[in-house]
Amino acid sequence: MREKIVAGNWKMNNDLAQTEELLKGIKKQWENNPGVRVIVAPAFTNLYHAFDSLRETEVEVAAQNMNENESGAYTGEVSAAMLTSVGVKTVILGHSERRAIFKETDEVLAKKVDAALKNDMEVIFCCGEELEERKNGNHFDVVKQQLERGLFHIAPEAWKSVVIAYEPVWAIGTGETASPEQAQEMHSFIRKTISEKFGEEIANEVSILYGGSVKPANAEEIFAKEDVDGGLVGGASLKAEDFLAIVRAF
Ligand code: G3P
Repeated sequence: MREKIVAGNWKMNNDLAQTEELLKGIKKQWENNPGVRVIVAPAFTNLYHAFDSLRETEVEVAAQNMNENESGAYTGEVSAAMLTSVGVKTVILGHSERRAIFKETDEVLAKKVDAALKNDMEVIFCCGEELEERKNGNHFDVVKQQLERGLFHIAPEAWKSVVIAYEPVWAIGTGETASPEQAQEMHSFIRKTISEKFGEEIANEVSILYGGSVKPANAEEIFAKEDVDGGLVGGASLKAEDFLAIVRAF
């Protein structure tokens, strides 16, 4: 179902004490924002603490990754079932840092998507081009290929459990935000691409988030765009005040 969503991807930040501090700040400044889903994605080590600490609030918890196997000899990895057992029902997959640094391929991501859906999880599927790809005019082809190879094998009914996050790599952590027009252009392309394969009804029900230097100062203009349904926030999610200002930007 198409919803307004603001998700905070904490990445590899916050030990337990810092997690508690940030959660306390979020709870203290929390003003229920009807109609906006709010999600925080701490590191694995802090997921259960976050889930437990946020039980009484509307704030949800997501994982930043997971392994595609159900269980077994995969040292250091975490499975979908382990995540759902600690209250985590949403997982971010295909983040550009997973793709670039940890060499996650479209094929592996397709398996991760299947494992998450099989365990009744919601998937926030990331896509986005590198700066060179945009400069060469290849950004639409790149994003389309990421979607086709990593996500478009799913059954039509599975789309109710999928959120897309468009994160131009050149805007992540750089302070170089895509313009609202650039975000809208790619979001509209993504929605059209989904529609071409799965039909307009499904495409119009998918939430498409923008990620890449979303800040309190730029969130309102970006979120106001027709095909932008919210944001996947990195740096600004590490300060309760900034994160909640972005939540209120709708
Ligand atoms: O997943 C969100 C993240 O990649 C965006 O990071 O710091 O540019 O908001 P940031």
